[in-house]
Amino acid sequence: RLRPEGTRNSKIPTGMVEVLGIELEILNRAEPPPFQLDDDSVSEETRLRYRYIDLRRPHMQQQLMLRSRIVRSLRNALDSQGFVEIETPILTRATPEGARDYLVPSRTHAGHFFALPQSPQLFKQLLMMAGMERYYQVARCFRDEDLRADRQPEFTQLDIETAFLDEQQIMGLVETMIRQLFDETLGVKLPDPFPRMTHAEAISRYGSDKPDLRISLELVDVADLVKGCDFKVFAGPANDPQGRVAVLRVPQGGDISRSVIDEYTDFVKQFGAKGLAYIKVTSVSQGREGLQSPILKFLSDEAIQGIIERCQAADGDLLFFGADRASIVSESLGALRLRVGRDRGLVEAGWQPLWVVDFPMFEWDEKSGIDGKGRWQALHHPFTAPRVDSAEALQANPGTAVSRAYDMVLNGTELGGGSVRIHNSELQQAVFDILGITREEAQEKFGFLLEALQYGAPPHGGLAFGIDRLVMLMTGATSIREVIAFPKTQSAHCPMTDAPGLVGPAQLRELGIRLKQEPGKG
Ligand code: AMO
Ligand code: AMP
Repeated sequence: RLRPEGTRNSKIPTGMVEVLGIELEILNRAEPPPFQLDDDSVSEETRLRYRYIDLRRPHMQQQLMLRSRIVRSLRNALDSQGFVEIETPILTRATPEGARDYLVPSRTHAGHFFALPQSPQLFKQLLMMAGMERYYQVARCFRDEDLRADRQPEFTQLDIETAFLDEQQIMGLVETMIRQLFDETLGVKLPDPFPRMTHAEAISRYGSDKPDLRISLELVDVADLVKGCDFKVFAGPANDPQGRVAVLRVPQGGDISRSVIDEYTDFVKQFGAKGLAYIKVTSVSQGREGLQSPILKFLSDEAIQGIIERCQAADGDLLFFGADRASIVSESLGALRLRVGRDRGLVEAGWQPLWVVDFPMFEWDEKSGIDGKGRWQALHHPFTAPRVDSAEALQANPGTAVSRAYDMVLNGTELGGGSVRIHNSELQQAVFDILGITREEAQEKFGFLLEALQYGAPPHGGLAFGIDRLVMLMTGATSIREVIAFPKTQSAHCPMTDAPGLVGPAQLRELGIRLKQEPGKG
């Protein structure tokens, strides 16, 4: 009933009413909860240990409800476009997506193991060969990799594949779906079309293949200006075809203190950088005299002049320098760009979607390969089609081959990625050859795919969105664990069920498994 006049409180949701008790029946007893629902200081470990309590928080309930609405909107969009939802196996063989496999021992085939799918990649391609022209699935994927805020060992993809569509058509189709989703669930109008950027441009301007365009800071290449200088730190990489020398200009960054510069220097070292040279610009018009930096003495007037002009440096700016192998410079200055952007409040509000296209087919991995000689790795996965369609052209120049892959990036997060696939068995074999996968190995791992490609495989392609990441962005959560009902910790453990758990000797015996080591404490 309404609260009596004078006792009403419009500041709380139930402040206008009170309950009049007439009869009380106890349905169940309840212990006091391990923490209060409005206590925000509870550790994540405790929250996950009592997840069923944690999920009672109104905020968590709202996130799960929004997640459900998001998935429904995506399903509706695909259903209305004639897509068919098809389930693919969880107990299967390895599907290479660059992570370690989770293995499941087989009892009926002693010594043999299933792998949980890293994605439904091969099955969805086989569905195209089966004549299902438009497939999708809300698919659970399993990857044993180093976990971060936006990664879980099991996560959900919206997985899509189509036959006879090229990359433009596929990108157009799913872009429309995402625009509709944002409009329907958040009332947000995303740009039409999404901007597109080549992989090369993304690395050159932002040092990242998933640039956050909400931050306007950019990298500027200056290798040509410092080629002849006495400073070996710069001249070395500037004269090395594999090297890069770049500047990150922080407008009005002159107030950044020595100690913060030291912090940033430690920060870039995580990415392999050896240091972080800088120049403070006090007065451009005074030339060398108007600058402050420990490295000025190594640079000629022309070099300084050239750098100031190319970066369009103004009074009060700070210039950070990276000089090393190109990948190290891009990665470290790309990460510093984000860090400085956040630290200095330079992240604009709103949504910045982007397609990154024209990825290289392969990247050279120095650490792996037989005899540590290095080898080519697929940048996406080995089933991605190259721009060139002859095996000879690809083999002649793997390092410069461009793939027909595309990634959708939103506010600096890779939301989804995909490609047009190889539908010709010779070309598929050529890619395996370049990746150093022997004929026998290819036959043993992917023989069924190579075989299927010979029975009339249509041109096909698709992509997969990370649903957890999408929901994380749309709810403003800081980790995907916040939008998964029962997630795992950073060490891939579930504090509630205490999974993974120990297995008794009888069960192991049945599986033909003997442990070499006593299991450590979980
Ligand atoms: P990819 O490996 O890029 O592509 O994965 C697609 C999307 O899945 C999400 N994602 C993850 N989300 C949470 N935790 C993880 N560990 C994790 N790993 C990936 C990302 C990513 O963009 N088969 C291809 C797709 C295709 O080519 O069609 C694939 O799996 O948002
Ligand atoms: P050093 O000559 O090693 O004392 O370095 C002089 C300045 O250059 C310091 O500010 C270092 O942080 C910086 N520095 C050293 N190596 C690099 C590098 N590879 N890239 C950018 N700056 C560097």
